[in-house]
Amino acid sequence: MNLYIFKSEEELDHAAAESVIKVIRTNPNAKLGLATGQTPIGLYKKLVQAFENGRVSFKQVTTYNIDEYVGLGKDHPQSFFIYMNDYLFSKVDLSKEQIHIPNGMAEDLEKEAARYETLLNQAGQLDVQILSIGLNGHIGFNEPGTQLHAETHVVELTEETRKANSKFFPSLDDVPKKAITMGLGPMMKAKKIVFIAKGETKAAILKQAFKGPIDLMVPGSLLQLHSNIEVYLDTKAASLLI
Ligand code: GLP
Repeated sequence: MNLYIFKSEEELDHAAAESVIKVIRTNPNAKLGLATGQTPIGLYKKLVQAFENGRVSFKQVTTYNIDEYVGLGKDHPQSFFIYMNDYLFSKVDLSKEQIHIPNGMAEDLEKEAARYETLLNQAGQLDVQILSIGLNGHIGFNEPGTQLHAETHVVELTEETRKANSKFFPSLDDVPKKAITMGLGPMMKAKKIVFIAKGETKAAILKQAFKGPIDLMVPGSLLQLHSNIEVYLDTKAASLLI
């Protein structure tokens, strides 16, 4: 694991974005695994800036989001599709055909998970996977539990995750109870993982994930097994790791 620690969010976002830009400039057909949440917003802003400055093009890139809420359509303000559209998709030269995200409105969710898994298998190895971590150690929506999945699946969100994500919703009751998430397989097979985390609330779980044993109750701890993971943290998030 390559650990990079930054004093400011600005420097962190810049460095993490440069790592992604490098992948796309080296391989214009790059396949990107994308995450949502508060944490990567700055990284996406830096990618948009680089696009606007002519430093990077997404014309031949394909993207695969790692998760979506069940029950939120592509027009719902809290859907991950709208998040991605607002922060990246609508601001760069990506067309609809290049974007992939699970459909949380599918009538048959199991079938949708299988469709997404087939898509990922057809895509093959992701060139870079952007990731962060939930307060309980989840990656994507791979929640802690007695078993973890390699493949795309429908997941019941924990109360802790729903509470943490209620910051994006009018109230806790509005937070969906289920999601469709990519399993850990494609993330662990990605050529490179760009992992980011910010703030002191993440310090304890980061210590467990990166310094503790590999533990099903801390899905992020599996990332210790990845051979090419770059970990970008601010000093607060890194406080228990150093
Ligand atoms: C979300 C996403 C994850 C994300 C995590 C942390 O629910 N499914 O991909 O890493 O929770 O979010 P945040 O960056 O807002 O702390």
